Amino acid sequence: MLVLLGWLCLVTTACAQDPEHGALLAAVSGCASCHTAEGGAPYAGGFPIETRFGTFYGSNLTPDPEHGLGDWSEEDFVRALRKGRSPAGRPYYPAFPYTSYTLLTDADLADLWTYVQTVAPAPRPAPAHQLKGMYRWRFLLRFWKVTGFRRGPFRPDPDRSDAWNRGGYLVDAAAHCGECHTGRGGLGGLRKRRYLAGNDDPPEPAPNVTPHEHGAGHWSTTDWTAFLEDGMAPDGDFVGGEMRRVVTEGTTLLSDEDRHAMAEYLRAVKPRPSRPPPEPTAPTPDDEPWW
Ligand code: HEC
Ligand code: HEC
Repeated sequence: MLVLLGWLCLVTTACAQDPEHGALLAAVSGCASCHTAEGGAPYAGGFPIETRFGTFYGSNLTPDPEHGLGDWSEEDFVRALRKGRSPAGRPYYPAFPYTSYTLLTDADLADLWTYVQTVAPAPRPAPAHQLKGMYRWRFLLRFWKVTGFRRGPFRPDPDRSDAWNRGGYLVDAAAHCGECHTGRGGLGGLRKRRYLAGNDDPPEPAPNVTPHEHGAGHWSTTDWTAFLEDGMAPDGDFVGGEMRRVVTEGTTLLSDEDRHAMAEYLRAVKPRPSRPPPEPTAPTPDDEPWW
């Protein structure tokens, strides 16, 4: 029923803007994880995001008119998430995963906007990004976007079940699992052929989660729903690192139905092997077995 209601919002205006639903979406989409500094005011920005291009800082998203989004219209907000473009027309860096949020529906973007406006204003600027070399040249992103960005929203596949479509929407648009688990090309764009097959990039490599033996091949639907609820993998270990927050601040808040839909989708993803490890170098005496 919830699934159905979600889709009805797409085609009717029956779902008035709902800040509570916006809060849930923001949690599952991890907005706070990049836009709240450790110990800082919620959504006031300043959280450092380390990448191979340098350090980005999440912006101030509070309704402060000078340093936050106080002067923004809903249109400005939707343009930022759907098109990756600022009110002044400047392209955003894909360190802001609008590459995934572009898939969010109009109704969900409206709810997110309604929620973001309820946050307490924080009158402080976020620090400037510290980027290496030519990555400072924001205009170059225009070239990257031609190949590296495909605009949403998410289009349901009529040949698949409602649950599969709902799961795909949650995995790709909101929870943006691929932003960490999909391998990237030289310019930092997600590689479709490496979809969810693992990403070795620092600072935190993320494993293969496709239904391949290198990944989550042996995970049942119940294994997936349990993991998305409390972070426990089938081997009994609780997941750590960035992934812990994805679960404890995000997917754990979803309904059982939604987690089930995600499990159905994840189990139907194309199985792909992990990238082969680098060629082994010739063994040195220290590598000899001790026996
Ligand atoms: C992985 C980190 C990350 C996540 C998750 C993230 N953002 Fe951001 N966001 C950024 C970064 C970095 C920037 C700055 C981009 C730039 O300068 O080009 C940004 C910029 C923005 C901007 C533009 C602000 C401005 O002043 O121009 C908006 C709006 C925004 N994010 C909203 C959101 C929302 C809403 C969510 C959750 C749905 C979200 N972000 C999740 C990293 C993130
Ligand atoms: C911000 C980056 C990020 C996002 C977003 C993310 N993951 Fe992860 N994920 C990681 C990292 C890093 C690890 C490795 C954690 C560790 O070292 O224990 C991981 C681990 C996992 C594991 C391995 C668990 C195990 O112990 O075998 C699974 C399964 C997984 N993620 C699924 C998902 C799914 C599904 C989503 C979307 C709902 C998702 N991840 C979103 C970064 C992320």
